[in-house]
Amino acid sequence: MRYYSCVETKKIFEDSDNYLMHTYNRFPLAIRKGRGMKVWSTDGKEYLDFVGGVAVNCLGHCHPKVVVAIQKQAQRLIHISNYFHIEAQTKLAKILVKNSFADKAFFCNSGAEANEAAIKLARRYFKQLIGQNRFEIITALNSFHGRTLATLSATGQEKFKVGFDPLVPGFKHVEFNNIEAIEKAVTKDTCAVMREPTQGESGVKIPDPDYLAEVRKLCDRHGILLILDEVQTGIGRTGKLFAYEHYGITPDIMTLAKGLGGGVPIGAMLSTDKVAAAFEPGTHGSTFGGNPLACSAAVTTLEVLLEDDFILDQCRRMGNYFKKKLEELQKEFPSIVAEVRVMGLLVGIELTRDGAPLVNACMERGFLINCTAGNILRFMPPLIITEKEIDLLIEILEQIFDGIS
Ligand SMILES: Cc1ncc(COP(=O)(O)O)c(C=O)c1O
Repeated sequence: MRYYSCVETKKIFEDSDNYLMHTYNRFPLAIRKGRGMKVWSTDGKEYLDFVGGVAVNCLGHCHPKVVVAIQKQAQRLIHISNYFHIEAQTKLAKILVKNSFADKAFFCNSGAEANEAAIKLARRYFKQLIGQNRFEIITALNSFHGRTLATLSATGQEKFKVGFDPLVPGFKHVEFNNIEAIEKAVTKDTCAVMREPTQGESGVKIPDPDYLAEVRKLCDRHGILLILDEVQTGIGRTGKLFAYEHYGITPDIMTLAKGLGGGVPIGAMLSTDKVAAAFEPGTHGSTFGGNPLACSAAVTTLEVLLEDDFILDQCRRMGNYFKKKLEELQKEFPSIVAEVRVMGLLVGIELTRDGAPLVNACMERGFLINCTAGNILRFMPPLIITEKEIDLLIEILEQIFDGIS
């Protein structure tokens, strides 16, 4: 594969600036190729990728089995309407159902869309099946559920909402990891509590071990639904296929996206039969949702992920190793690292300062990392990462921290 000169690469940045809406602050870097943990920029520089497409590339870049699945499906059938049965979609639903609490799946194209579907299903469940006009959903402060109008309204962070008024009514935001706060917010209008098992976007915030079980009990006590947004925590990210498995509970509705397609856009909303019955033909849909190409990629991603539990085990072991190494780093640089938070390979370190310059410093040294919420360095590498690659990053962080301490 040919790489571009600096001049050609600059042209990509210029065209990007001229022709794309400025919804992202992009780094001066265009990625041309990826394999496993590595990516290469258009001008041929190599990087170790600890962002993983924001928790998407769970099997690494261009996993050979996913590539072949996409190629084969593309040769056979790329798209067909949901007016017809879609073999790969059915297969994917069966794998998800067999490996989760759920009885039924609905497919869409992103995390936000999956959450939209969950919000609609929860409201409709009460109106159509229970005969109660409950519509309100209690979400958490600092949560992130997406950028569509309803999921933005569900999101508990004001900074994303500026300029988009009026938002969708029917959402209350209460403190995360505080069961009393939910209890106080429940009214006769409440239909569901919606939670990320670990808050990702706001900085890898892990609740107390018994928090989700308490939320489950509260929902049962009030006869309301528990929606878990596993868009970021699902598909092995936390060391189990779904994060709820750590807590000995099951939700009524769960949403997925990110890792599900191994890099191909796909979202899913899963629920029990009892709740799913609220959706009848014509009540919800998506032209591309459950498209053969995306579903083939997702089927293969899950097949690889579930093979012998090998990758999930690797994720747990590497998560522990990463944690140990970062805690050592924290001991060495207590004035820079305030806290280390690790849930499988959803990894965050809270800094005592702005994280953006550190992201740039890592990039200059060939490492892609992410900064979220201003001062949290977040790492969401492919689940196939090895100790050697973690060691390389730690070495670089040590060098950088040394330079600024
Ligand atoms: C927990 C959670 N929910 C929803 C979303 C939105 O997903 P998408 O960007 O695919 O719409 C995200 C994205 O970061 C997320 O982390």
